[in-house]
Amino acid sequence: PVLVIDYGAQYAQLIARRVREAQVYSEVVPFDTPVSEIVARDPAAIVLSGGPSSVYADGAPQVDPELFRSGVPVFGICYGFQAMTSALGGTVEHTGTREYGRTDLTVSGDGGRLHNELPGHHPVWMSHGDSVSKAPEGFAVTAGTADTPVAAYEDVDRRLAGVQYHPEVAHSPHGQEVLRRFLHEIAGVRPRWTTSSIVDETVQAIRDRVGDRRAICALSGGVDSAVAAALVQRAIGDQLTCVFVDHGLLRAGERAQVERDFVAATGVNLVTVDATEQFVGALEGVADPEEKRKIIGREFIRTFERTARDLVNRGDGDVDFLVQGTLYPDVVESGGGSGAANIKSHHNVGGLPDDLQFSLVEPLRALFKDEVRRVGLELGLPETIVYRQPFPGPGLAIRIIGAVTADRLETLRAADAIAREELGAAGLDREIWQCPVVLLADVRSVGVQGDGRTYGHPVVLRPVSSEDAMTADWTRLPYDVLERISTRITNEVSEVNRVTLDVTSKPPGTIEWE
Ligand code: XMP
Repeated sequence: PVLVIDYGAQYAQLIARRVREAQVYSEVVPFDTPVSEIVARDPAAIVLSGGPSSVYADGAPQVDPELFRSGVPVFGICYGFQAMTSALGGTVEHTGTREYGRTDLTVSGDGGRLHNELPGHHPVWMSHGDSVSKAPEGFAVTAGTADTPVAAYEDVDRRLAGVQYHPEVAHSPHGQEVLRRFLHEIAGVRPRWTTSSIVDETVQAIRDRVGDRRAICALSGGVDSAVAAALVQRAIGDQLTCVFVDHGLLRAGERAQVERDFVAATGVNLVTVDATEQFVGALEGVADPEEKRKIIGREFIRTFERTARDLVNRGDGDVDFLVQGTLYPDVVESGGGSGAANIKSHHNVGGLPDDLQFSLVEPLRALFKDEVRRVGLELGLPETIVYRQPFPGPGLAIRIIGAVTADRLETLRAADAIAREELGAAGLDREIWQCPVVLLADVRSVGVQGDGRTYGHPVVLRPVSSEDAMTADWTRLPYDVLERISTRITNEVSEVNRVTLDVTSKPPGTIEWE
């Protein structure tokens, strides 16, 4: 792999993604990984990420000069560029001028391998205080800015290069090309990481691991579990059984999407468990959000466990493996590279009892979300599944403010279906991150319809834009779309006589209301 050494910038995962966009497999490793360990992994190249520190700060992470004697190609970015400069005997100065944001880069000479034939001036994204004032010996300086004479350098013979700017962000329009040139042209890495190679390699790895034994997978209706299941199905066919628990808290059409579209695309063995009464019964009279979540989690595990036991008892032999849709960012964030110890388990099936002994199969463990989507498309899954917006495990239960009842679920389901239909028709599905519709079941509002006074409930539209759900902004939906949603919901859903819009960002609000 290409190893991206993480100096504590929020950019390390983004760099790893960009490396993969250049069709080269990459992983993120912490900056304190010893050089001997890094070299032992036989990396095709190393990228040193940016970081928040100054190389002069107390305790600032340094690069061990040993790294450059190993012969592995290295590319330094921002802080990584400066740390590399110090380690190789160049000069980094605390100049007092900071460059932040969009900056004009001037290419010097022929631009070297990295900047050759790019526009002589082009914008790049900068974020640094210290600057490199003298490149280490043997390096050709190929670009600079008004404040930073050394903004890019390379030593093609030693396969070492670096840039002061952030090539990984979209604000550096030629950044991806520069990264690609480092990988392909300076480091000489072959572009092999394509969607079809991901599918082939993963399918082979699953076959090797599972052999002729059996596996089970809980489908949630979401992208990750669907793609994980489709990969395992491709690998072991009928040795996989998928379980879909319909807890009655789903949106309109979701069960059909799994039972019809997913099965049609994959041919998977599917067991659907209709547990609506069980879940709605268990939630009776419960208005507290965390209490709802606890109950739903508990009932989910019970149901899944019962189904797994039934499958085993059906007499077709033991089930040895549980398939989970863990993604690479979860692996990185729980501090685990290759170790299996620190798995952040899927909230839906985490906490299974010890006497159900499964080994985990996690076919998406090395993948970023965009790769998961491409793999899904490659496996023939429909776009409705592959580009599905996030939907919380506890479903509509946490979008009914107040206790959950079958009637309230029906009301919310109808309002939600209208909102989704209109947003889809307006072509806004991919633009918004998600748009919860929330039923204020314990609030009543007076209205007038025809000749009569109504006394119904408000719903709240919560359209949000986000990159990762950690922060979000409310989406400025066009008024005509809002108007259609509002008119249709108040006309077609008799219990709802008012539609309101949530215009709170996150923070301080969360995306969901509960
Ligand atoms: P919040 O409301 O915390 O939501 O801003 C962030 C993202 O997480 C989803 N969400 C959940 N997903 N179980 C889930 O599987 C939950 O209990 C849960 N609560 C929130 C939410 O839809 C949003 O995408």
